Amino acid sequence: MSTSEQLYDRANKTVPGGVHSNSRARVPHPYYIKKGEGAYIYDVEGLKFIDLIMGNGSIFFGHGYEPFYTRYQENLKRCEGLTTGWETELAVEAAETFLRIIPADRMRFTNTGTEAIIHVMQMARAYTGKNDFALVEGAYNGWVDGVNISNFPALKDVGDVNRPNAVPGAGGMDTRSIENTVIVPFNNLEVTRKLLTENKDRLAALILEPVMIDVGFIEPAPGYLQGLRELCDELGILLVFDELLCGFRVPEGSCQKWFGVTPDLSIFGKAIANGHILAAVAGKADVMETVANGKTNFVGTFNGHVYSVAAALAALELMEDGSAREAMEKKVQYMKTRFEATAKKLGIPAILVGRGGHFHWYFADDVVNYRDAAGSNVSNFITFANAMLEQGMMVIPKPLSHHAISVSHTDEIIEKICDAMDVALQKVAEQNNK
Ligand SMILES: Cc1ncc(COP(=O)(O)O)c(C=O)c1O
Repeated sequence: MSTSEQLYDRANKTVPGGVHSNSRARVPHPYYIKKGEGAYIYDVEGLKFIDLIMGNGSIFFGHGYEPFYTRYQENLKRCEGLTTGWETELAVEAAETFLRIIPADRMRFTNTGTEAIIHVMQMARAYTGKNDFALVEGAYNGWVDGVNISNFPALKDVGDVNRPNAVPGAGGMDTRSIENTVIVPFNNLEVTRKLLTENKDRLAALILEPVMIDVGFIEPAPGYLQGLRELCDELGILLVFDELLCGFRVPEGSCQKWFGVTPDLSIFGKAIANGHILAAVAGKADVMETVANGKTNFVGTFNGHVYSVAAALAALELMEDGSAREAMEKKVQYMKTRFEATAKKLGIPAILVGRGGHFHWYFADDVVNYRDAAGSNVSNFITFANAMLEQGMMVIPKPLSHHAISVSHTDEIIEKICDAMDVALQKVAEQNNK
């Protein structure tokens, strides 16, 4: 038995499914990773991989990135002996630094994206006096009732594009939250206008990822986000941006700045603390004030935890001037050029899309919404991803996933990734020519 098999065997005796997050389950067993170093991870079998997952995009600088950890340790020393339960100067500074990057009026820290979205839902209800939400088809905004709906639905379940079905994202959900949800298609202002108008008296907010990164990387069409802003204003519905993945990585550091569209509320997480546990809610002053003026509540034992804000302050200060993000941007553009040139030469319809270190491959000519992403060529993707894994590139072998590089992915490492992509595309071509 290999070490991984032994660990999996042991884990299955104590942990249902042998994993602590279902997204890590793999056949025949999950990867057991024991060390991270820059862009590399090492598993318990002694295999070395270039990490192209990077904590689902949360590890912005790289594993063990020295400049980050030096600052982080210095910040921790400023709160010696403390963990949680108090407001600290660190948290004040981290909030100030956050708001220098994100153009919102106010912000609060919480721990996870799902907690942030729960706060947003309560704030939106408290502010508007309405109960229900509109979500974008295919998007993932957390695992809680109320948003865990129509994330990655099977195409056979999605229904009419003019009135998409609300498909439960998991068993055990409150069935009322599914009935209360309106699903709209991404990049389709016309259908969104119709469905939001019909339901305006019950909708507290429209929640969306302004760039759909959770299903790869789908950018909003020109004018789409501006159109949503105008529509929501007209109908008295709050506009919420889920920038958990977009935040700090997309151009300008946020979609609200990049596209010049101000949401009423937004959530951030992932890259905010370079892989440490932290999320944030940010937005317009009057909506954010609902948590302080008695309209709703916002509490949490670990909110503003010293370790988390120490990490956030270190990460945010290091990324504030945008140069790290811009360097990753160039590398992803280079990967795109290389990948698409090889795909074209081999006659494979495929694109690499991404910005600011986030990216994904679609085996399709173009992808503008969830149905396009889900309808892309699965068999080509799996052949490609498996060939990447065989070459030591840690990727997720699922077409509806997303990938990321970090600051530690040097030009030399990017070349290795590009060479591996060429080989993997060759495998796809061989498979298709059989
Ligand atoms: C866009 C988006 N929103 C919300 C969440 C939920 O965040 P968390 O896993 O921290 O609860 C995720 C997590 O993957 C996400 O990608």
